[in-house]
Amino acid sequence: ISACGTAWHAGLLIKEFLERINKQRVNIELASEFRYKSNILNKDDAGLFISQSGETADTLATLELCKEAGMRLFSIVNVEGSSLYRECERNFLIHAGVEIGVASTKAFTQQVLTGYLVSKSILGEFSDPKIDTEFNLLATKFENILKREDEIKSIALKIYNYKGFIFTGRGRYFPVALEGALKLKEIAYVHAEGYASGELKHGPIALIDQDMVNIALVGPELYEKTVSNIEEVKARRGVIETVGPQ
Ligand code: F6R
Repeated sequence: ISACGTAWHAGLLIKEFLERINKQRVNIELASEFRYKSNILNKDDAGLFISQSGETADTLATLELCKEAGMRLFSIVNVEGSSLYRECERNFLIHAGVEIGVASTKAFTQQVLTGYLVSKSILGEFSDPKIDTEFNLLATKFENILKREDEIKSIALKIYNYKGFIFTGRGRYFPVALEGALKLKEIAYVHAEGYASGELKHGPIALIDQDMVNIALVGPELYEKTVSNIEEVKARRGVIETVGPQ
């Protein structure tokens, strides 16, 4: 898998799907790095390129490398007819509509969900009614979050002036933490970093004090461990906001 920025974060989640659900070995590379290093490419491997625009130069350069190696080329892409779309043997269109703002937002969610469907399709479970139900529930969940605008705004008003933000998460929440930090930087122009929760103690914890906010993504997986990471932040008087299922 090769991609940049937000699409690379989606790729991290798709790698997890392909490994956990399909037991496929997957490498994921930042396209901007991959294109300039020596890679061991095998014509029996497939390349999956993820991009909203389908025009990102680094991603297209990695596609060329894979093409030269004789690999089969696939994409998860939003723009039909884009350069990426034209170069690939098969394209999984995400149908996110036009991305109007600078930040890739709708595209991230759709890339991840499309990757999930690709993974389920490989298992032959594409038309599983459970997936329909799950996806429909997701729409309702999004709507419910949007209804909580006032509550979310009041939290934002409380914390927006702090020195910096560290987003943390474990497992599937780690790429989401990276994405959260990227979005905050790009949209609010404040310093934010995404970290795997368990990595905090390996350096970044030094930055935590009463002026630093930790947006901790907490899921059911490795719950106790995630909570213990939050306690470390609390011990250093960091401001903690958690995001997770109720
Ligand atoms: C972040 C963002 C960028 C893009 C990246 C790749 O919000 O928009 O990080 O995700 O430049 O762009 P695409 O997906 O068009 O290849």
